Amino acid sequence: MCGIVGYIGKQKASAIILEGLKRLEYRGYDSAGVAVLRDGHFDLAKKAGRVEGLIKGTPAQKIAGTTGIGHTRWATHGGVTDANAHPHISSDGRIALIHNGVIENYASIKKFLLTKGFTFLSETDTEVLCNLLAYHYQKEPAAPEASRFLESVRKTLRHVEGTYGIAVLCTDCPAEIVAARKGSPLILGVGDGEYMLASDVSAIISRTQNVVYLKDGEIVHITATNFSITTLDAEDVSPVVDTITWKVEDADLNGYAHFMEKEIFEQPAALENTMRGRFAEDGSTAQFGGLNISAVDLRQVDRFHFLACGSAWHACLVAEHLIERFARVPVEVDYASEFRYRNMPLGSSTLFFTVSQSGETIDTLAALREAKRKGYKVLAIANVVGSTIAREADGGVYQHVGPEIGVASTKAFTSQLLVGAMLALYLGRMRDMSFSDGVEYVKALKGVPDLVRRTLETAPKIKEIARRYAHYHDFLFLGRLSLFPVALEGALKLKEISYIHAEGYPAAEMKHGPIALISESCPSVFFVPSGEMFNKVVSSMQEIKARKGRIIAVATENCDLPAGLADEVIRIPECHEAVLPIVATVPVQLLSYYIAEELKRDVDKPRNLAKSVTVE
Ligand code: M6R
Repeated sequence: MCGIVGYIGKQKASAIILEGLKRLEYRGYDSAGVAVLRDGHFDLAKKAGRVEGLIKGTPAQKIAGTTGIGHTRWATHGGVTDANAHPHISSDGRIALIHNGVIENYASIKKFLLTKGFTFLSETDTEVLCNLLAYHYQKEPAAPEASRFLESVRKTLRHVEGTYGIAVLCTDCPAEIVAARKGSPLILGVGDGEYMLASDVSAIISRTQNVVYLKDGEIVHITATNFSITTLDAEDVSPVVDTITWKVEDADLNGYAHFMEKEIFEQPAALENTMRGRFAEDGSTAQFGGLNISAVDLRQVDRFHFLACGSAWHACLVAEHLIERFARVPVEVDYASEFRYRNMPLGSSTLFFTVSQSGETIDTLAALREAKRKGYKVLAIANVVGSTIAREADGGVYQHVGPEIGVASTKAFTSQLLVGAMLALYLGRMRDMSFSDGVEYVKALKGVPDLVRRTLETAPKIKEIARRYAHYHDFLFLGRLSLFPVALEGALKLKEISYIHAEGYPAAEMKHGPIALISESCPSVFFVPSGEMFNKVVSSMQEIKARKGRIIAVATENCDLPAGLADEVIRIPECHEAVLPIVATVPVQLLSYYIAEELKRDVDKPRNLAKSVTVE
């Protein structure tokens, strides 16, 4: 939610900031803006709409200077207008501020500031924060400029409740930026004679691979030649400079029309990367370097509790199925947003997992903190290295799929399914799974990239189906057992990017209500595996057909479907049940993508959404 970029160095700040904003746009695309310091004043350009619009509407000479900040907004307080776009400038003209997060006590602060003569041009909580900072700055006239600026930020932040990642400029300090975070991600890029600030690495990766991940409660003070990090209580922090392994190309389209398309087709390689180095030498189990829990302790766990949101939550439901099936340990799965307020009774030998692509989802982070507060060990499955969830967890597994930029999760989701399947194997082999079953399981996992590659070959056929089905307004997605969460994921993908109403259900549950929706105008997508569930799923399909419902079947190769039962059949390879959810996901990713494309939707930036949800 919201993207922040800052630059201080020898180059023209605006060009670098705008380029960074383009890369961060997936975090929010309601408006964009940039402020650059020049000769004791701010050059400011901001506008509702996309970064491209801002670039087109702003002559370069209007935002000159080598120190600046920029922002892409996902609206929280106040509508999508030019006035509400960031950066905000204090009413005395001295402070420019960008903000990601929510200031919860903004109303009372605003009331106070109005009594002190401050005026407001927007409806945002950010402008309140900006003016509060100007107020504290005005009250510190005696201190030398730099420490006065820094100290005012500190004082301001002590008065605010809520979450923030901020970057601030002050007209009295022409080559300085102060930035801070609490609950919203912020990193410092350490370049060659320059520094950058960003919400995530994709904004700065073209300029530097050296980054400092700021922690909650830290403030960084950057000058043209140096930086220092302190806490809100002014204690010094020794910075740790990490090296990013992602490459610039990872964050580029590389000839694809959309990031979602690119990320769907990247899945074979992404899944390969998730597995790399994670099988034991005897070929019968998985191994994880970062779990930070001994096999003996893991053996004592009598319940796993998974917490996540959105697609990651669907991945947890599949993990639940596989862990219970292969390791015979009970698993609980909760929406992270619900868990933090539920206060459910928890056993003493429970181990928590939080699952999050971005590692920044605020609900998941809050759930992680709640579980830790209750004294539990919490592990994380995350993609973004150095993200808050990854850092605050006691250990975990990185997905290693590279940046996922399309708002609709694809490669990160299938990679989460893979990590879940590997965990089920690892835990199963500690318990009742035999060596030979383990070897067979490992073989199946290693074959996944190839199975996905083969499934991707159905893309032209799916594109054709999408063309015929794009005009429907309602869809049902139906699957059983581990394919029920895949049905949920298929429905989520379709609604997210095409704005078509879609629901996912266990196939048999359909007759308990959703069947009322069925008519010629509401198609159903069925997941049909061969094996014990085949006849049951076919019965559900018959029930739909009897009511004139159209059917798209995603069926494994050996399924002998009754003639004429499905209107469309997409074949996927037969495979081990641990990897079936991964393979079955691919056709519905493609179906949603092509339907959205057919409808000319903004696939990578669907309306109202943002890639990483860092507000509650
Ligand atoms: O970064 P996270 O995995 O924590 O994100 C969780 C959800 O916000 C995310 O999966 C969301 O549902 C996606 N838009 C799904 O495509």
